[in-house]
Amino acid sequence: MEILSKISGTGSYLPEKILTNDDLSKIVDTSDEWIFQRVGIKKRHIAADTEVTSDLAAVAAQATLKNAGIDSLDIDLIIVATITHDKPFPSTATQVQRKINARNAAAIDINAACSGFVYGLTMADQFIKSGFYRNILIIGVEVLSRFVNWQDRNTCVLFGDGAGAVILSVNNSDNSSGFKYATLGADGFSPPEWLEIPAGGTAWPASKDTVEQNLHFATMNGKEIYKFGVKIIPETINRLLDKNGYTIEDIDLIIPHQANVRIVEAAAKRLGIPKEKFFMNIDKYANTSAATIPIALDEAVQQNRIETGDKIILIGFGGGLTWGAVLYEW
Ligand code: ACO
Repeated sequence: MEILSKISGTGSYLPEKILTNDDLSKIVDTSDEWIFQRVGIKKRHIAADTEVTSDLAAVAAQATLKNAGIDSLDIDLIIVATITHDKPFPSTATQVQRKINARNAAAIDINAACSGFVYGLTMADQFIKSGFYRNILIIGVEVLSRFVNWQDRNTCVLFGDGAGAVILSVNNSDNSSGFKYATLGADGFSPPEWLEIPAGGTAWPASKDTVEQNLHFATMNGKEIYKFGVKIIPETINRLLDKNGYTIEDIDLIIPHQANVRIVEAAAKRLGIPKEKFFMNIDKYANTSAATIPIALDEAVQQNRIETGDKIILIGFGGGLTWGAVLYEW
């Protein structure tokens, strides 16, 4: 009999400290009006000095285990999607394993930038469908506040810290709801400079010069990323619909990567649907890269925005370039 997967629980964690646009306007030459009008952000959460990426991930994971009613010892694999790991190695996932006492799990990090959670969820679905694993914890987490240049108004206003998670399990019920289909893509032929942290890897190892030149901070070509987002969201959603014989009217809710409200509004227009079909919370949390989708999914669940039988789409896009979307029936 075919094995199907379903989400058995969601969870999230946002650090306590909040940084508003007004707070930011005391650090760089910006304003609440500029940030809200251009991007749709009002505030973001910032990790405490004592918190590292795996700490945020572990709190989100604990909430997810509780919501799913699953013991951490029953987790077979932990996938952490992040571009802001605790350390280059060992993996952040192994540190989460220790913090949640998931002794029986394998653990791995993946990097697909803002698409990382959708990639991780899709990989987990394959592990479950093949019969290899029964319960997989997938976490999207970032502490971007340590990788933005707080003197650069072009980037520092855009990002925040946070973690979101789901557990994907074997669907033991007799209905066929759950993970339906996914499409993933990448364009490594695009200039990496569009969205990157230039130094700290083999291409540009850390040195006094790289620190002095601020090369360990995220840099971005905002206009190119904007154009990419507006194009890739409708393209990817249409591919997902075509493959499954659905129209956009069959979809109840779309949970997109939260990069910019204007990108989503322009994509909604291209798809010919009201922007309200997209779940947005960027105003509260800003762009938390790999974490935006699982945080938004958990919030949508808590707000009862998703009902049994609803068809939803999770869609991510980001550095690489990378993109991906999952069709899921709740
Ligand atoms: N506050 C005030 N003014 C600012 C700020 C700021 N924070 N940042 C830039 N400006 C100024 C610029 O200096 C410029 O001034 P000038 O005309 O005097 O030179 C003016 O605003 C316009 O700057 P642009 O860079 O042309 O602004 P643009 O309209 O492109 O908007 C933005 C910038 C919002 C970043 C846009 O390009 C965008 O949304 N891009 C998408 C990128 C994105 O969302 N990235 C998130 C991470 S990527 C991801 O998650 C996939």
